[in-house]
Amino acid sequence: MSPTIGTLAAVVAILYAGCSRRPAVNLQAGAEDERHDYHSYGNPHQIKVAHVHLNLDVNFEASVLSGIATLTVERARLYPEGPLFLDTRDLTISSAGVSADGTTYAQARFEVAGADPILGSKLTIHLPHEARFVRIAYTTSPKASGLQWLTPAQTAGKKHPFLYTQSQAIHARSWIPLQDSPGVRVSYSARIRTPKHLLAVMSAENQLGEERPGDYSFRMPQPIPSYLIALAVGDLKFRAISSRTGVFAEPSVVRKAAKEFEDVERMMQAAEELYGPYRWERYDILVLPPSFPFGGMENPRLTFVTPTLLAGDKSLVGVIAHELAHSWSGNLVTNATWRDFWLNEGFTVYLEQRIQEKVFGPERAEMEAALEKQGLDREMADLPERDEILHIDLKGRDPDAAFTEVPYVKGMLFLRSLEETFGREQFDPFLRGYFERFTFQSLTTDDFVRYLNDNLLAGKALAKRIPVKEWVYQPGLPANAPKPVSQTFKRVESAANRWAAGQIAARAIPTRDWTTQEWLHFLRALPPQLERSRMAELDRAFQFTRSGNSEILYEWMLIAVRNRYEAAYPRLEEFLTSVGRRKYLKPLYTELAKSPDGLKRAREIYQKAKPGYHPIAVATVDQILFESRASLGAAKQ
Ligand code: BES
Ligand code: ZN
Repeated sequence: MSPTIGTLAAVVAILYAGCSRRPAVNLQAGAEDERHDYHSYGNPHQIKVAHVHLNLDVNFEASVLSGIATLTVERARLYPEGPLFLDTRDLTISSAGVSADGTTYAQARFEVAGADPILGSKLTIHLPHEARFVRIAYTTSPKASGLQWLTPAQTAGKKHPFLYTQSQAIHARSWIPLQDSPGVRVSYSARIRTPKHLLAVMSAENQLGEERPGDYSFRMPQPIPSYLIALAVGDLKFRAISSRTGVFAEPSVVRKAAKEFEDVERMMQAAEELYGPYRWERYDILVLPPSFPFGGMENPRLTFVTPTLLAGDKSLVGVIAHELAHSWSGNLVTNATWRDFWLNEGFTVYLEQRIQEKVFGPERAEMEAALEKQGLDREMADLPERDEILHIDLKGRDPDAAFTEVPYVKGMLFLRSLEETFGREQFDPFLRGYFERFTFQSLTTDDFVRYLNDNLLAGKALAKRIPVKEWVYQPGLPANAPKPVSQTFKRVESAANRWAAGQIAARAIPTRDWTTQEWLHFLRALPPQLERSRMAELDRAFQFTRSGNSEILYEWMLIAVRNRYEAAYPRLEEFLTSVGRRKYLKPLYTELAKSPDGLKRAREIYQKAKPGYHPIAVATVDQILFESRASLGAAKQ
């Protein structure tokens, strides 16, 4: 490592490297801007939080967590005095204490700044040079953006309340005062008290037994970014899948979930063969109630998933492959800031496909890749250019609001183009080496590009075929971007075309052996405008409105709204009022909001559905129905 001595960047590099467990990657002049996380008020290059201990009570009556967070801090040599800056959002802080030995605490002076709508409030704590521990007593707000409090009616069992956290991207600060940046890694431990009979689980070592004493202790020894700290509390049962995997879910769901996800051990073995040992000991899955706003969330040791994956035929377990893949891309090697999010998600979609190929065969993997590419093309058609760039500019924006397929699918296609150009013999060891080299570190886009040049491209004639700058810093896709093609899909397309041209009746299409992926492709290959009678013909033949497969139902609903197929509307309302997955809500509400009467209907449905949605989903839907284009629609009424 040879930073350019004399530059500010070098000083920052040395300070930063001095704080982390292993030397950080080479930082060069100017790199401090790249590494600066403008979504955090934290000052980790001056004082870094290294460990978080939580001691919290879960209060379902008041919908709050309250207790104490004890932070272990490390001061940089060149910052002998000066305060610690932390991120908070809607926290009520009652006191702060500091200690040199972790036993005797003195009151500390602290200030909570006014709230920024995106970042929350900066918390300043004044601490003497020798302080190593900072203790903060606090209570969360009932409207904390990272917590969802569910009533018994919103759970499968209907008897007990449920709480879960969602910290990514910048919501950990709404339930823990800390340096809420993916560039800061902490180990953590926790003691969580709950009502008796409920179980608490975390992204940490979990208890697998049957006891429910209402007092639980956790340890996460590996250093992780704050967005991976997670907690859930509910009437949960555990069921093992293999010696190191299993599912937590409400009692009525746990058996079905264990069956649906029974291939997870094979997926782990496939991932380990490709990318090296699984570093987190156990891999368990928590199935949440249907309001969970994501398909899955890669909380280490305990992936959180939506129950909409439980299709009954394992057809939607690609999401599990994805969250498992994050155990390497994302959780071991992490984006340093949210600008570098594609390093997490693009790599993960690529790994997800490699895992699926090994476990379910190349055709399934190729169909998934083709569906992803379609999704990207569909979304890019409406995106401003600045959001088509992998190294996205998020200044002044909420990372949640800038969430698109671009980091996921364009990122995956970039890695796939490297694979296609250099062959797996070179690309697989390169990627494996990357995970090994940067284990437990947080990387910027620049860091990756430099590593790529040094370890794969340099000195190779083939490198000319990879327009790296265009991939990473320009909108759109390079002309030679990979185009996944599935032979199976060609047959499906021709069936859709023949039906659309009136050459074949829906019933006569040979669909008997179609997989979910083929159905999805069929629905997407239909002409955008369909007469009501044609919609009815499809529905009679294939029972789409009654589908129990959430992905198929969602694609169908989208077509139904576009073509005002009213027979599907009761089901649409039922879907929107029971499922909170943002990937479904966003396009469906957007499609509804395109016409004045659709917008009216959307607002009526939303009024009923909103109490059941997560704050993240509420923010998304509010934006669609009450701001920008939607309000233009309303003005026309
Ligand atoms: N980490 C993401 C979910 C996420 C991203 C939450 C950004 C908050 C902010 C997770 O790994 C993910 O990508 N989930 C996808 C599923 C996947 C198969 C594409 C989802 O939820 O749809
Ligand atoms: Zn992901």
